[in-house]
Amino acid sequence: MSNTTEALNAFAIDIEEGLSQSPKTLPSRYFYNDVGDELFQEIMDLDEYYLTRAEFEIFVRQKVEILKAFLGEEETFRLVELGAGDGTKTKVLLAHFMNEQVPFTYSPIDISGSVLELLKATLKEEIPSLKVEPVEGEYFKALEELGESDDTKEVVLFLGSNIGNFDRESGVSFLRHLANTLSKGDMLLIGFDLMKDPKKILAAYNDKEGVTKAFNINLLSRINDELGANFVVENFDHFPTYDPLTGETKSHIISTKKQEVHIEALDKTFCFDAWEAIHTEVSQKYSQAMIEGFAEKAGFRIIKNFTDSNNYFVDSLWEKV
Ligand code: AVJ
Repeated sequence: MSNTTEALNAFAIDIEEGLSQSPKTLPSRYFYNDVGDELFQEIMDLDEYYLTRAEFEIFVRQKVEILKAFLGEEETFRLVELGAGDGTKTKVLLAHFMNEQVPFTYSPIDISGSVLELLKATLKEEIPSLKVEPVEGEYFKALEELGESDDTKEVVLFLGSNIGNFDRESGVSFLRHLANTLSKGDMLLIGFDLMKDPKKILAAYNDKEGVTKAFNINLLSRINDELGANFVVENFDHFPTYDPLTGETKSHIISTKKQEVHIEALDKTFCFDAWEAIHTEVSQKYSQAMIEGFAEKAGFRIIKNFTDSNNYFVDSLWEKV
């Protein structure tokens, strides 16, 4: 079986499983096809979506302290990034580290080879002397490869509150797994979106222009295109919620009428009630105490927290103990 057939099969299986549950779910990791990648870029530019700007500000204003903390007693490190994307924020750090003549290597890890190619090409243009060694593949496999290749200290970046897409339990097990692939003294800089005014959080997932709605609904179009389904996308709406008690932000796709959808690849028809909700995404918001608990449970010690001037976001620097 070819790689693409395998991926398509996994997609079909996950969609079938999600739509067979009660309540129905669709996994947010499938948001990111070509259209989804573009929509997420648009989301990052929205007035309401404060996360990216907050983290950017942290890097611009605190790059000196960040470098100092990364180095510790050492002279260099390997900078590894999980899910690098277009690298806009990371470039602030990369450029600063180069200016300071730190002899480091940058290893972005991504499942998408094309994302890595593009990133490598733009970095070659913008920071020509930077040493870039991308690794294509699944995070943990790639980390293991890197760990075996040399014994330079590793500093892993996991930015953008991407950890927020995991529910609490799988978040801890992801971080524990991550700790297991690292050596004592290796570091992790991990981004968390903090609890704040609930109205501000909800607006970030319910923008006026409807880009976040399009981002969610695009998943239905993707199922139409790749699995031969007949979702009528106009019959579905987007509805996010935020629970200020738990910090859980959830996105839902709502069926606005009673309807049936056939998915050819599954040879199956799914029924949707009027106003039935499909859960698509969790974007967890954190308190300081939750972050501390997380670090401890996963086997890390917090070295330092870097926050933006509004206290919206924290990049927390952890060391494997
Ligand atoms: C990329 C997972 C951090 O949850 O805030 C943006 C994705 N979803 N708007 C987030 C997203 C809706 C984003 N992460």
